[in-house]
Amino acid sequence: MFMVPISFRKKLIPKFILLAMRGKTLPIHGDGSNVRSYLYCEDVAEAFEVILHKGEVGRVYNIGTKKERRVIDVARDICKLFSMDPETSIEFVENRPFNDQRYFLDDQRLKNLGWSERTVWEDGLKKTIKWYTQNPDWWGDVTGALLPHPRMLMMPGSTHFDSEDGKETSYVSGPNQTRMVVPTPKGGSSPQKQSLKFLIYGRTGWIGGLLGQLCEKQGIAFEYGKGRLEDRSSLNADIQNITPTHVFNAAGVTGRPNVDWCESHKTETIRANVAGTLTLADVCRDHGLLMMNFATGCIFEYDTAHPQGSGIGFKEEDKPNFIGSFYSKTKAVVEELLKEYDNVCTLRVRMPISSDLNNPRNFITKISRYNKVVNIPNSMTVLDELLPISIEMAKKNLRGIWNFTNPGVVSHNEILEMYKTYIDPKFKWENFTLEEQAKVIVAPRSNNEMDASKLKKEFPELLSIKESLIKYAFEPNRRT
Ligand SMILES: NC(=O)c1ccc[n+]([C@@H]2O[C@H](COP(=O)([O-])OP(=O)(O)OC[C@H]3O[C@@H](n4cnc5c(N)ncnc54)[C@H](OP(=O)(O)O)[C@@H]3O)[C@@H](O)[C@H]2O)c1
Repeated sequence: MFMVPISFRKKLIPKFILLAMRGKTLPIHGDGSNVRSYLYCEDVAEAFEVILHKGEVGRVYNIGTKKERRVIDVARDICKLFSMDPETSIEFVENRPFNDQRYFLDDQRLKNLGWSERTVWEDGLKKTIKWYTQNPDWWGDVTGALLPHPRMLMMPGSTHFDSEDGKETSYVSGPNQTRMVVPTPKGGSSPQKQSLKFLIYGRTGWIGGLLGQLCEKQGIAFEYGKGRLEDRSSLNADIQNITPTHVFNAAGVTGRPNVDWCESHKTETIRANVAGTLTLADVCRDHGLLMMNFATGCIFEYDTAHPQGSGIGFKEEDKPNFIGSFYSKTKAVVEELLKEYDNVCTLRVRMPISSDLNNPRNFITKISRYNKVVNIPNSMTVLDELLPISIEMAKKNLRGIWNFTNPGVVSHNEILEMYKTYIDPKFKWENFTLEEQAKVIVAPRSNNEMDASKLKKEFPELLSIKESLIKYAFEPNRRT
């Protein structure tokens, strides 16, 4: 732990100094017996220089100090320098979970290179206090970070800061949507300084596989989760090993060859789609992590308030009205429950399409291979356009429910017309009615229009479904 003048204002020393400057009491989590070691920033900079010039390439050097200090003693020393009475100025508050008793680094290898700590504790503390008193407005409004338990502030309209050892994020809620945002220090540089690392579930799946490829292409560090969604300890282990900044859940039971499988495998479907998804959301919440959840829009069907062809789509706040298939039922239940998790971003995907026309999961591939197809306008998701947007949404720490479809609708026949134009001029197909379709499938399917205006507002460049289909799926595969 470095005692740096320009340090995160929610770390112990800056927080106590900022509170003392305001004449406020210094809250100590627990009894203050936890120990930390503090090193003045100039000594750290010197260590970097020594390692740069004298260190061995490939070796690891700990930069630390053997001099440890109890949190209570830090608070007392700060009180002394502000002429405050520690008896009345220190307040013991409830300990926070996972408040580590001690971190200790052996710096002998660095010492062997000739480095040693030069700034004594008292001098470093005085210099740090001097910097803060001379730059009182550097961080802007830090009121939220100075509360005893900043993470517990999770109320609408409030600002929420993680705890001292947590991630550098804050939560801000508005009347219509809630976001986690990375606060920008006043006078500081980019708010996205923190480097990204994604933990992705669904390595062997279609969407999970594409997400990994995208991260590789964009140079974003990522790892696939090894755990099973319903196994809490395996998820905790993944998070502890990988230390991600965000978690993407592209795992779930979708059924093979299609969702009809779920009708005869109900407990397996519940285990992954309900128990599993909720467990992952809960574990992520414990770790202060945002979970980007690939959910489905197949929880709605046209109804009298949203008739087919009306252009009135289902909105994010609408309650699911389609549970005709067991798959959709599990997804609808879980979406309702996930609303209670403010660390979750629910992405309602529908009838996904990609540029890979050989993939049997691709909606274009599916309908071009069926003997007969229904002809109903639907909202759909062009993955080539929308998966990169899901990454942008994670970077912006967007949360809540999002209709994750391209604006507008497209019918089966309109897609197959495009197929004929771009891929195979001789292509023919036959239509059948919903009643006839019902005879060849086990569970009914959802048909609906989703209102994508929330997503379009956030990402104005988002193409309409027909434009996106041409740009991302048909033009790149053009054979005519
Ligand atoms: N494809 C669609 O039409 C569509 C439409 C709308 C929404 N979605 C949603 O988007 C998500 C991803 O879809 P997808 O098409 O990529 O699915 P997918 O190809 O069927 O892949 C599902 C992935 O989930 C993993 N998985 C299943 N159960 C798991 C569990 N209990 N724990 C950990 N991993 C588990 C599978 O791994 P294993 O092979 O190891 O089991 C696989 O990697 C799903 O939630 C799906 O409901 C898909």
